[in-house]
Amino acid sequence: MSAMKNIVILISGRGSNMEAVVRAAEAEQWPARIAAVISNRADAGGLDFAAARGIPTAVVPNKDYPTREAFDAALQAVIDGYAPDLVVLAGFMRILTPAFVEHYAGRMLNIHPSLLPLYPGLHTHEAAIAAGDAEHGATVHFVTAELDHGPMVDQARVPLLPGDTPQTLAARVLTQEHVLYPRAVRWFIEDKLTVEDGRVFGPHNPRP
Ligand code: GRF
Repeated sequence: MSAMKNIVILISGRGSNMEAVVRAAEAEQWPARIAAVISNRADAGGLDFAAARGIPTAVVPNKDYPTREAFDAALQAVIDGYAPDLVVLAGFMRILTPAFVEHYAGRMLNIHPSLLPLYPGLHTHEAAIAAGDAEHGATVHFVTAELDHGPMVDQARVPLLPGDTPQTLAARVLTQEHVLYPRAVRWFIEDKLTVEDGRVFGPHNPRP
């Protein structure tokens, strides 16, 4: 039995993925506590959900800092106040500095709404529709210095359907994100993921 682990979740907005992780941790009684939910925006909707559950929240407004480095240093100090075993990026809309990423190497996950390596960056749903793809989806990956890269933990796939708009497609993907992300976070918490040469092995993908 592993000891209780601390999870810190970073959000910038709605926070539906954060909510899915919080609910799964509670319902499945993970050996983990959500130590804090931290946002770079005071108006992030997800902060209310976290506060209502009694989860400590903090806001570190990026606009208060003159440089990316200064913001990331301030954010890191707040995060580290909660002694995280894992940092979960859940719609955290900031490009992170290499020093910040390095500090959390091997213990920071992100979810991105595309089948990486397809469509890093913004507007992924528009891109999949414009390309006429048959499938789209979401990827959970360890965070490395290159945006939306890093060892992939797991993916969820959905079909594109005739008449899809970026909104209908995003909603279909989001439903799957809410299954994919909590499951991946749980695997991390249970020490079931290993990374070797940029490949992630786990319950879904056992080492040969
Ligand atoms: C999700 O689509 C996630 O994949 C992306 O940003 C969105 C965040 O949504 N990184 P929410 O804030 O979790 O509801």
